[in-house]
Order: sequence, then structure tokens, then C-alpha cells
Amino acid sequence: MSIETLETRVAPPANVDVVRVTAVKHYTPFLFAFSCERPAAFRFRSGEFVMLGLMNGAKPLLRAYSIASPAWDEQLSFYSIKVPDGPLTSRLQNIQVGDEILLGKKPTGTLVLDALTPGKRLFLVSTGTGIAPFASLIREPETYERYDEVIVTHTCRTAPELQYGYETVEGAKSDPLVGEEAAKKLRLVTSVTRDPHPLQGRITTLIENGELFRHLNEPPLDPAQDRVMICGSAAVLLAMKDLCERHGFVEGANSEPGSFVVERAFAG
Ligand code: A2P
Repeated sequence: MSIETLETRVAPPANVDVVRVTAVKHYTPFLFAFSCERPAAFRFRSGEFVMLGLMNGAKPLLRAYSIASPAWDEQLSFYSIKVPDGPLTSRLQNIQVGDEILLGKKPTGTLVLDALTPGKRLFLVSTGTGIAPFASLIREPETYERYDEVIVTHTCRTAPELQYGYETVEGAKSDPLVGEEAAKKLRLVTSVTRDPHPLQGRITTLIENGELFRHLNEPPLDPAQDRVMICGSAAVLLAMKDLCERHGFVEGANSEPGSFVVERAFAG
């Protein structure tokens, strides 16, 4: 597939680059990951998102995607749902190595280390494809410079949806740059809501009833030393934001760092 064929030669808009896909991996019938070339001028901070997509006739069809690779990596990686009749992902799920995709030139976002005040434990709370920005942050050396412990929580409906998270965390622990630090400081805890699993239930429930902390053998949330990043569906963001505020956490932003930050999981 090429976005520019002789029959439909349409110039992409100026705010995007055309880049080639370098890897594609399908995890479940509804989840896949892919990587693409990184334009020389493309700069971003680990945890940010960017617009990405395909030409749709004469127009670009773009959606926001969290970048799942760290800021130092030569390639850009992404993790996506496949929506069977979704305008973008119904087509994007068919991309192959060598195909061209559109990549926005202005990454942005709030799931960045600078939006948090200093702390000791960093909780990266994700549901579904919301783990993508954390795949970036757990391979970022600064994450380990700033925190003593980094705890990724990943909650999905079913166990097969957890595979990407397992691979990503194992990848960070064997990464030549951050592997040594990650092996000491990084932990992944998974929970599943619609299948049997060692830890069952929504992350909000597991935090409220203390099961998460018993499972981890860690003290409960403490706004004095814990920092929280949240990425998932709109419902999860609202519920986790409410939970954090009730526990005394203050939302941060690039302009004013705080003790927690949220971002929608953009996909499809
Ligand atoms: P549940 O199975 O109970 O709906 P989705 O695939 O819909 O994005 O959901 C991903 C995970 O987020 C699921 O395990 C789901 O649990 C959970 N979830 C959905 N809504 C909420 C919410 N309001 N608070 C906490 N977790 C939620």
C-alpha cells in the first residue's frame, strides 16, 4: 500500500511527514503494535503523543497516538486497537513493513516527567492501549534518575490483552541503556476484569480496597512521596482523577507540575 500511487497522487499536508513502516506485530484480533522511521527533525519528550494516520482520498485521516518508544530511540513505536469499522484503524491494521503512513510534526502531551513534582515512587496506571506512553517512559533513563521505584499497573478485560505489557517491561529490563536500573526499580502488576487472573478487578477498586498494595507488598498511596500518571479510556481517567484527588493528589501540567497527571489513551 502506498499513499501516493500514480492514479491518486495527492500531496500530504505540510503539517505531516510521510514515513515508512519498519515493523508490525499483531497481538490479538483487536490489538497491534507498529514502528516507523523517525524523521531527522522529529523531537519529543518520552510520554508524549502525536497525530498519525493515512491519506483518505485527498484528505489526511489522523488520530492522536501515544509514542511508545523513548525520546532517544531511532524508531518511533505505537500500540493500537483495531476497530473493525473504525475509519482509521480498520485500514491502519493492514499496514505492512515498507508502507507509508503520515506522522504529525508536533508531538505534545502531559504524561511527561516534567509535569510532576519530585517523588519517590512513580505509579504508571494504565488500562488497555493506555500502556503505550509508559512503554516510552520505562525506557527513559531520566525516569530512573528521578524515582526509587517505578510501578506500572496494566488492567485489561482479558488476559491475552496483557501480552504487550509483559513484553515491554521485559524489554525495558534487558534494554542496554536502562536495563540495569529497570531490573532494580521497575515492577509490572497486571489485573483482569472479565477473566480469572491472580489479581482480578478494576484498578480503582484494587487501590481503594488495598488489594493492589497487599499484592505488591508495598505501603498504600501517599501524596507526600508518590507520583501518579494515568492513561486509559475516558471513564478510567475520570475515575482515577477522582480517586487521586480524594487521596490528596494535585493534578499537574507542563506549566505547573503536580503530584498526578492524566491523558486519554488515543487510538482509533
Ligand atoms: P470492566 O471490564 O469492568 O469494564 P476497555 O477495554 O473498555 O477500555 O476497558 C479496559 C479496562 O478498564 C477494563 O478492565 C475495564 O473494566 C476497566 N474500566 C472501565 N471503566 C472503568 C472505570 N470507570 N474505572 C476503572 N476501570 C474501568
